[in-house]
Amino acid sequence: MNIVAFNSSPRENKTSKTELVLQKFLAGARQAGAATETIYLRQYRIKHCLGCFSCWLGNKGQCVQQDDMTGELLGHLMEADLAVLATPLYHFNMNARMKSFIERTLPLMNPITAHSGRRLSPPWAAKAPKIAAVSVCAFPEDYNFQALSMNLRMLYGTDLVAEIYRHSSEFLTALPLQLRVEEVLDAVARAGYEVVRQGQVSPETMNAISQNLAPLETLIDMANRFWGKEMEEEEVTGAVGVDGEGVDKYV
Ligand SMILES: Cc1cc2nc3c(=O)[nH]c(=O)nc-3n(C[C@H](O)[C@H](O)[C@H](O)COP(=O)(O)O)c2cc1C
Repeated sequence: MNIVAFNSSPRENKTSKTELVLQKFLAGARQAGAATETIYLRQYRIKHCLGCFSCWLGNKGQCVQQDDMTGELLGHLMEADLAVLATPLYHFNMNARMKSFIERTLPLMNPITAHSGRRLSPPWAAKAPKIAAVSVCAFPEDYNFQALSMNLRMLYGTDLVAEIYRHSSEFLTALPLQLRVEEVLDAVARAGYEVVRQGQVSPETMNAISQNLAPLETLIDMANRFWGKEMEEEEVTGAVGVDGEGVDKYV
């Protein structure tokens, strides 16, 4: 299986929690025999869709714009058996870079609408990759991903084979929580393995991925301490991640 992952986080790999979770997922997939490649969308020029429908009306499935989307990225997407769309959660949904990327896949969609079940949306024009989603968000609890999940399900229907969502993302590097974090990240790797071998992720693995790292009150307190300290020092480190300093009493 050829897996191509598209990571839309603007943050550097050593800081990005999307990257942390995505690479665990891909490591599990590789263990199951898949070949994987990661494309960082921040390194590419992706213009907004012009809404001209030229790709559907006489331009032979080609976008009229010349940028990295037409030059390279659409090709990578169509080479994949499984495309992993990895995005940080911004305002309860995918971030704008991922949204632009997805909007520019219109040339790959068929304008002749197929009616399958309750889903009325353009199907892929050619052999299309299956889709897996990876997302992280800072707030605790899975309900934060509801809008993103609904969006992706409406877009991809049964082609969407896995949704790996990890809340409390900025705690994934908090030292006092590392035992739990390890369990979570091991489960993410297991999810990658299962998708390749079984085509889906088991409910046990999903539960392990979304487990709480600590009681809600603890997480809120840790986050407030972190932001309070940063604001006091008026320091922007660019390496946000709740470090858990001084919270040993909780865990
Ligand atoms: C503009 C912006 C909007 C965000 N919106 C949300 C949100 O709606 N819910 C949430 O839980 N976290 C939100 N976050 C936090 C990020 O999801 C979180 O920091 C995540 O780890 C970022 O992923 P990255 O480290 O891969 O860039 C937001 C962050 C930014 C910068």
